[in-house]
Amino acid sequence: MTESNIALKVSNLTKDFGGLRAVNDISFEVGKGEFVGLIGPNGCGKTTTFNCISGLLEPSDGKIQVLGKDANSLRPDQIQKLGLTRTFQHTRLWKEMTVIENLLVPPRKQFAPNTISSLFRPHSRAAERNRLEDAYSALDMLEVPHMAENLASELSGGQSKLVDIGRALMGTPQFLLLDEPVAGVAGPLAEKIFQNLRDLVTDTGISILVIEHNMDFILRRGVDRIIVMDQGRILMQGTPDEVKDSREVVEAYLGGGGEEE
Ligand SMILES: Nc1ncnc2c1ncn2[C@@H]1O[C@H](COP(=O)(O)OP(=O)(O)OP(=O)(O)O)[C@@H](O)[C@H]1O
Ligand SMILES: [Mg+2]
Repeated sequence: MTESNIALKVSNLTKDFGGLRAVNDISFEVGKGEFVGLIGPNGCGKTTTFNCISGLLEPSDGKIQVLGKDANSLRPDQIQKLGLTRTFQHTRLWKEMTVIENLLVPPRKQFAPNTISSLFRPHSRAAERNRLEDAYSALDMLEVPHMAENLASELSGGQSKLVDIGRALMGTPQFLLLDEPVAGVAGPLAEKIFQNLRDLVTDTGISILVIEHNMDFILRRGVDRIIVMDQGRILMQGTPDEVKDSREVVEAYLGGGGEEE
């Protein structure tokens, strides 16, 4: 990968929590227009890696570059401004608002200063209409346009995850970090959503790094590459075929992580 094709570059990232080394000297890249899966057993450091990339946690060591910029010393809102948006493993929706309203409000943890000030500025009608159109397209892409007027408090866990992805899409990100986006989403719908994410990457050239816990599932979802983590380290990275070929190794570490689909 040439430097100009790299959207995310993580170099020797380490994160300690007291005596616990949650992420242990990992390095990887995600290219522009690449769809990459991050997989590994519970507690292996996947979410911590996302938290470091998105600026919620300060790395103990190592370097993170987001869309060509050094992101180590940036706040989450500054990293978002570079074009990177994330979703959370445990969704944070405004329960008392409808789905469509949730999409129209910027995410809590990623308020950018200009977003706050824009809340107090009169909106142009055209801009409002565009945002509404964007919100409905996001719901279409996630196969849940019929839920627009439902209260977020009425949604199941899986449906909440979809609305959370919708919110991430609202900022027209160049880079999306998705933390187990289809956990709790029924099989066929989860497959459709991954297909739509694949199409989004192919059609728009954005990059997606997605955490998924099910090896069998991710192997068949059209990702370009898979990064396998175990105990804070990268066990291997390669195309789905390459990962499949080392299945025994992977199974040894994941304890047959593919059986629960
Ligand atoms: N804020 C924190 N403070 C202390 N320890 C933490 C913190 N966040 C994560 N850990 C620990 O770091 C390790 C990695 O956790 P992390 O959440 O990154 O794993 P994960 O791969 O996302 O797991 P899961 O599949 O369960 O979501 C775990 O041992 C976890 O308990
Ligand atoms: Mg996690």
